[in-house]
Amino acid sequence: MELEKSTDYLNYIMKRFYHIGADKNGGVTRLAYTVDEDKMHEELSRIGLEEGYIVTADEVGNTFLSLGDYEEYYLVGSHLDSVVNGGRYDGVLGVAVGLLLIKIIKEEKLNIPLKVVAFRCEESSNFMKSTLGSELITNGVNPKYFQVLKSKKGEKLEDIFANRGYNESPEKIKGVKNYLELHIEQGRILESESLRIGVVSAIAGNIRLQVKIRGLAEHSGATPMNLRQDALCGAAEIILGIEKIGQGDFTSNAVTTVGVIDNFPNSINVIPGEVIFSIDIRDGDNSVMEDIRIKIERLINEVCKKRNLSCDIQFISSTEAVKLDVNLIKELSSIAENLGIEHKIMPSGAGHDAMKLANITKTGMIFIPCKEGISHNPEEEARTDDAALGAKIILEYLKGDQQ
Ligand code: GLV
Ligand code: MN
Ligand code: MN
Ligand code: MN
Repeated sequence: MELEKSTDYLNYIMKRFYHIGADKNGGVTRLAYTVDEDKMHEELSRIGLEEGYIVTADEVGNTFLSLGDYEEYYLVGSHLDSVVNGGRYDGVLGVAVGLLLIKIIKEEKLNIPLKVVAFRCEESSNFMKSTLGSELITNGVNPKYFQVLKSKKGEKLEDIFANRGYNESPEKIKGVKNYLELHIEQGRILESESLRIGVVSAIAGNIRLQVKIRGLAEHSGATPMNLRQDALCGAAEIILGIEKIGQGDFTSNAVTTVGVIDNFPNSINVIPGEVIFSIDIRDGDNSVMEDIRIKIERLINEVCKKRNLSCDIQFISSTEAVKLDVNLIKELSSIAENLGIEHKIMPSGAGHDAMKLANITKTGMIFIPCKEGISHNPEEEARTDDAALGAKIILEYLKGDQQ
């Protein structure tokens, strides 16, 4: 298929998903294991049935499409959930590229056993746990997560799984020869170097914590400054310290983020008595993340002691950093070179389902640029002709691997 026709097909697919979970102020909200994510998977199934593919769902709601029932196959895809008020390309474009590849295989009668996958719950926005759908069918997930993790609405993951008839300990995926995922870069590197393709070398991991700071909620007019136990002021000092730790001298792109904060009672004339906030630590090196976690915990204890506050630090979830398959990186890079596509081998700061598949099979990822590097934002934008180019590289790899 010519690149122009491939681009048209990707545009058509992206449009099919466009309206689902659309927010009034632009962007989309398709949180994991909610009706909006369900609608994305239903639309994908509809597309598959229209094309005459075999459409199946596994025991945790991941969707698979294929032309045959293969014992051994290549797997291409990504996820269909989003963050709160996120963009339309993160994840969805990788699934669309899977659909394009299977369409080409069908039309050109290529003998390539391929399945397309859309994983559930890649984003940590709803449960503070990323890549749940792909982790459940690869490594498996510690059962304790199901009791601890709750959705933004406060529903236990355990209950959500029970209501949906899903299995907390599903059968593991079998027969995957290679997993390949195309994704927007979600950073500015490719665009700033005017490159259309990146080949991913490694993916940063994460550690997620939740911190509760307790002080004393008192009258804001009657309590002198030197007698206060202001939980929000303590949290503010800690949050700035967390930023500083993230900016520290780490060799491997460490980042630290406080993205959620709840202040109680959140009233203009009451000193804040309790603050709860999240911490997201990421790095390409697991020991660096651990080092950062220790530094942050020390800081929290020091600030609370100094300000006469109490604290509770809770571990929420973590995902290990991974390096992708060295041979596959070389192969994808040399295909790009042979096609005359200037590209770059680069690490990913964002998490992806590929991290979980890399634990069980040879795994590779292609990045394409996104406008101004903006992602997890309604302004997120990427070019489908770049995605078509990425799909061509993956297709050439699949063809070559058959021989
Ligand atoms: C998911 O997109 C993440 O990396 O947070
Ligand atoms: Mn994302
Ligand atoms: Mn994503
Ligand atoms: Mn991600």
